[in-house]
Amino acid sequence: MNSPLSLAQQIDLQISANGPISIATYMGLCLTHPTKGYYKGADPLGAAGDFITAPEISQMFGELIGFHLVNVWQQMDQPRQFNLLELGPGRGTLMADILRVACRAEGFRDALKLKLFETNPVLTGEQRNRLASYEPQWLENFEQFDEGPILVVANEFFDALPIRQFVRKPDGWHERLVGLVDGKRTFGLSPTPIPAETMPTAIAEAAEDSLFEVCFAAGEVMSRIGKAVARQGGSILAIDYGYARTQTGDTLQAVRDHRYADVLEAPGEVDLSAHVDFGALAAVTQEIGLAVQPLATQGEFLIRLGIAERVKALSGANPASAEDIRIAHDRLVGKSQMGELFKVFCAHSPGLVPPGFAA
Ligand SMILES: C[S@@+](CC[C@H](N)C(=O)[O-])C[C@H]1O[C@@H](n2cnc3c(N)ncnc32)[C@H](O)[C@@H]1O
Repeated sequence: MNSPLSLAQQIDLQISANGPISIATYMGLCLTHPTKGYYKGADPLGAAGDFITAPEISQMFGELIGFHLVNVWQQMDQPRQFNLLELGPGRGTLMADILRVACRAEGFRDALKLKLFETNPVLTGEQRNRLASYEPQWLENFEQFDEGPILVVANEFFDALPIRQFVRKPDGWHERLVGLVDGKRTFGLSPTPIPAETMPTAIAEAAEDSLFEVCFAAGEVMSRIGKAVARQGGSILAIDYGYARTQTGDTLQAVRDHRYADVLEAPGEVDLSAHVDFGALAAVTQEIGLAVQPLATQGEFLIRLGIAERVKALSGANPASAEDIRIAHDRLVGKSQMGELFKVFCAHSPGLVPPGFAA
């Protein structure tokens, strides 16, 4: 039932009744509460929304990923049926750009079984409008694949999954919680220490007051998809801001109207996200038996896939847009823009050589 209380009031009531909640519980409620979560409401993307993503900046991003996927499909001997899954497809822009290019490869479109995984009903509607001709199926879990290999793409999906945070103290690690002080939402620490030996060895030497983040949801999604890919063959390409090795540091952030905002102030009204621990995701997929490419920056990946040639071809075909295309190129690959902050992760069946990574 749709409660007349705002999400902020519901969260505050829950804390008053049961005590402080973990950051993961808070983030999960803020983002995906069934009726009032941030990702259950209006389309958050684009100039009129809260943030803009790479596929919304330029078609070149999706087109180059389309070339990448065709190459992997060809390395698998062009299976007559395969699954192409996108996690968190937003407006469907990335997939539309991918398929416009990839379906030029003979046999690709006939073999395609398009799968989408999305929580936002408004965005699902936009994906339906955009991609209807490819007859997509929206997955409810990761057991619903058709026969044949599985190619997975995810841009800015894993950063939206809830994280937990822990702070190091002399007696161990204490979970960071959201509680109420004088009626105001405030961060605090659980009084119960977690022994340092139970934390990853990568942070064993962390100094006092260091903050460690872990995203169990990301590991769980990667594990489920990874197992399906290990069974049926294929690859997982994930692009996000993040880091290559498990480390300490507070990366939880709120964004509203293209500006940073307070994480605790307006539950459900601001985007919350955290950097992705690609080292942890690599460990999960390697344990399942997949190979993992060395993490690339988004700039390196797009340059290796030939973004410079794409700029020339598009500018040649649309001279009036040449300046806009150059600006979009710089936003995608520039070191001070998205080029270095965003990373590209790829796990795949052993034997494949996905393009775009260091040999
Ligand atoms: C930051 S947007 C990125 C959209 C798109 N990939 C792009 O690059 O424009 C995150 C996407 O993941 C979806 N999403 C977030 N949390 C999700 C969840 N728990 N389950 C399924 N989809 C989710 C959002 O609705 C949205 O489509």
